[in-house]
Amino acid sequence: MKKNILLDQAHAILSSLLSKDDVVVDATMGNGYDTLFLSEIAKEVYAFDIQLNAIAKTKEKVGELSHVHLIHDSHENLINYVNTFKAVIFNLGYLPQGDKEITTKTKTTLKTLNLILPILKKDGFIQLIVYPGHEEGKSEDQAIQSWIQTLNPHHYHIIETRFLHEEKHPPYMLMIYKTKDES
Ligand SMILES: C[S@@+](CC[C@H](N)C(=O)[O-])C[C@H]1O[C@@H](n2cnc3c(N)ncnc32)[C@H](O)[C@@H]1O
Repeated sequence: MKKNILLDQAHAILSSLLSKDDVVVDATMGNGYDTLFLSEIAKEVYAFDIQLNAIAKTKEKVGELSHVHLIHDSHENLINYVNTFKAVIFNLGYLPQGDKEITTKTKTTLKTLNLILPILKKDGFIQLIVYPGHEEGKSEDQAIQSWIQTLNPHHYHIIETRFLHEEKHPPYMLMIYKTKDES
């Protein structure tokens, strides 16, 4: 079975939940695979990355599409560009074939998660692919796992998808569904 079965599952979920009426955020653009995928199923896509290289790679894939916004900025500033959306996706970690030192950081990831949760639409969701197999990823994993325990179960449903018998620390997916507005 293909190793990227997790990403295939992540995309299958996005296809089933999103429609051409939805605005979505790709918080970690990277090589643009997710941005391209979202561009085909959503009304508008706001994609962020701190690396110009990522913007260039993504532009190669999506070209110039008026409903796709490639933004060279950290996702913690996303509110400066878009303030209402159905979903935010994070594929954490570093650019494959890129500089492994430029990776998502625990503090920033948690900051952005806390920022988007109250403005996420009811019936919206956050999708996270987490990579505990490298040092910063391990810290991110632990922080995210602690953070989800603080979320009110009357307002959020959280589902985790994991490989159950892989050797080291395989990536996993978290889906955080907002079922009720906080107030
Ligand atoms: C695993 S890659 C994403 C893969 C991507 N979704 C794809 O389809 O190819 C993670 C990306 O997150 C980016 N990143 C790290 N910190 C970030 C931040 N604070 N804001 C936006 N992007 C960030 C990295 O530069 C890297 O390109």
